[in-house]
Amino acid sequence: MNIESQKSLKPYTTFAVDVNAKYFVQVNNISELQDLISDPLWQEEKHYIIGKGSNILFTKDFDGIIVYNNLEGIDIINEDEEKAMVGVAAGEDWHRFVMWTVDRGLWGIENLALIPGTVGAAPVQNIGAYGVEAKDTIVSVDVIDLVSGEVSTLRNDECDFGYRTSIFKQRPHYFVTKVTFQLSKQPHPRLEYGSMKDQLTQKGIEQPTLGQVAETVIAIRKSKLPDVGEISMAGSFFKNPITTSQHAQEILARYPDMPHFDLPDGQVKVPAGWLLETLGYKGIIDGKVGTYNKHALVLVNHGGATGAEVWEFAQKMMRHVHDTFGLDLEPEVIIM
Ligand code: EPU
Repeated sequence: MNIESQKSLKPYTTFAVDVNAKYFVQVNNISELQDLISDPLWQEEKHYIIGKGSNILFTKDFDGIIVYNNLEGIDIINEDEEKAMVGVAAGEDWHRFVMWTVDRGLWGIENLALIPGTVGAAPVQNIGAYGVEAKDTIVSVDVIDLVSGEVSTLRNDECDFGYRTSIFKQRPHYFVTKVTFQLSKQPHPRLEYGSMKDQLTQKGIEQPTLGQVAETVIAIRKSKLPDVGEISMAGSFFKNPITTSQHAQEILARYPDMPHFDLPDGQVKVPAGWLLETLGYKGIIDGKVGTYNKHALVLVNHGGATGAEVWEFAQKMMRHVHDTFGLDLEPEVIIM
């Protein structure tokens, strides 16, 4: 274990803002993590864990220890003719794991192809796309409590999963070491999300193979969202706001074209991307920051922006949405 001082985090976050961590440690296995917890520095300094840094915006230097989770390994724990249980180390790249399951004929997470980040971040955020969420296939999550050093396994029902949230957001001192998934060998295509079915129908495919579902997701994402490394960004910057049915009706009276989704509890979810595009934020450049030209919800560092500049721009959008629609946008990205 090597503790580095005054380390630039620019290569470790996809927003590529140049901030320094007072200390930086890359953890490659559990024993290195235990060594770190017993180091005297650990008691003195605050700490924060990062994976691929694809859902975080640092607005200033970090005055403590950044722990970079680099635990690797994928194991089939058990399998039969119908299903397989797979344990994955938290530092594994999420998309690489999705393609690993697709290559082995294991259904369950193919709609989540190409989501940036690590396997360990999947339960924290409860990542989701095209009608599927990580929580649908997660059996359990192994963690180390960085305060007590205690190792434990949380079952799915103990993780408090919700829309882009979980118990792990409330307990940042839990270091996720492994995630266990239950995947199916029987075809289970999830095509409810509008453009999924359309794309397959256009190709004349009614019963897609696992590979075809993954290809479709990848094609849709590539048509709307940038790849990590293509530009500096962190995917959807805001969550889609949820409001009362009455409030949604009031907005619809003024903007009849607003897409909206009725939720089972009677509330209504409104796409933040549409709100922002309507206010003219798609593909704009505002100094060194802006938004992606095909998706207003993706904030972009056009080069050399500070985290504070990105956050200032985001807050400007939040005020604009509040003043026009009376809706409060909440960042999906973690602001540090
Ligand atoms: N829209 C616009 N203008 C835009 C962007 C979107 O009008 O600039 C409209 C679209 O036409 C559509 C609606 O807004 O009617 C929703 O857009 P989209 O289907 O692209 O999905 P989203 O709500 O923007 C969510 C997730 C994505 C996920 C997709 C697909 C959130 C905050 N974002 O995006 O997740 O990939 O659905 O399921 O829930 C991420 O979390 O980083 C992420 C990319």
